[in-house]
Amino acid sequence: MEIVKSISDMQKIAKDNKLKGLKTALVPTMGYLHDGHLSLIRKGKELADIVITTLFVNPTQFGPNEDFDKYPRDYERDFKLCSENGSDYLFFPEVNEMYPIGFNSSIIIKGITEKFEGQFRPTHFSGVATVVAKLFNSCSPDIAVFGQKDYQQTLLIKKLVKDLNFGIDIVVAPTVREKDGLAMSSRNTYLPPELRAKAGVIFYAMEQAKSAIAKGETDRKRLNSIMMVALKTVAEIRIDYAAAAIASNLEEPDIFLPGDEVVLLFAVQLGKTRLIDNSVVKIPYKLNEENFIKS
Ligand code: PAJ
Repeated sequence: MEIVKSISDMQKIAKDNKLKGLKTALVPTMGYLHDGHLSLIRKGKELADIVITTLFVNPTQFGPNEDFDKYPRDYERDFKLCSENGSDYLFFPEVNEMYPIGFNSSIIIKGITEKFEGQFRPTHFSGVATVVAKLFNSCSPDIAVFGQKDYQQTLLIKKLVKDLNFGIDIVVAPTVREKDGLAMSSRNTYLPPELRAKAGVIFYAMEQAKSAIAKGETDRKRLNSIMMVALKTVAEIRIDYAAAAIASNLEEPDIFLPGDEVVLLFAVQLGKTRLIDNSVVKIPYKLNEENFIKS
């Protein structure tokens, strides 16, 4: 695996590979890689000839009081994992390569970025949109793979590609979880053992809502309250949101309709660690017999 630090070198490599007729998949990351990230690299390798993984802890997507400085970093380990999992290139620019003095642009995508994460991290999504656009322009991929773990981010990226005509296929890969259902995240390392032991409650809350939907619950506020009640079984939790919304546009009707794809979105603070998760569920057309018997 080749490590590339400059944008111009990366662009040259991308151009050469394109001329050779090779299909390229891009996997953007901020490093401290875990199995969730690695599943994206393997997916990229399945779908394309070349995988470019990017490792850049992007300062512009962190708010002033967030964890940019203490975001976990272990570059040597990341290089090794990338290479072992089939990445052909690692694009690994410095901050001043991506944002040289005088850099003065940012991409704002309205609508879907204003709710949920956008409410709690008002500058986050413009930082993500801007850096991802720069990564797209540096690497010119045919496809780019993102994790469902950051659900609102996937909606943002699809909109970015559509609105600004990047002509890149966006692939969304499933969330990889720990044994107790906790979504893998670089930030999980912040959790002290006593809180880590309780972090499975998010998955529990998600399962409670899913089972209510399977039994016929379609009232959005009731679903939200099922998730809240489940989360509150852990005293140390602070809930930013636990909310059901239409998966494609995050709208929040009072009642979901049969066939609607609904996303259950979570953001909680456990001690000092902020965790997000989600699951997409379809509202059933009719309840199956098993559910009737159970309820
Ligand atoms: P990061 O948090 O490092 O995540 C990189 C990619 O890995 C994202 O697409 C994310 O959704 C995916 N991912 C994280 N945890 C996952 C899990 N448990 N299962 C599957 N995929 C998972 O997301 C970012 O970085 C940044 O915002 C970035 C897009 C790189 C822009 O800076």
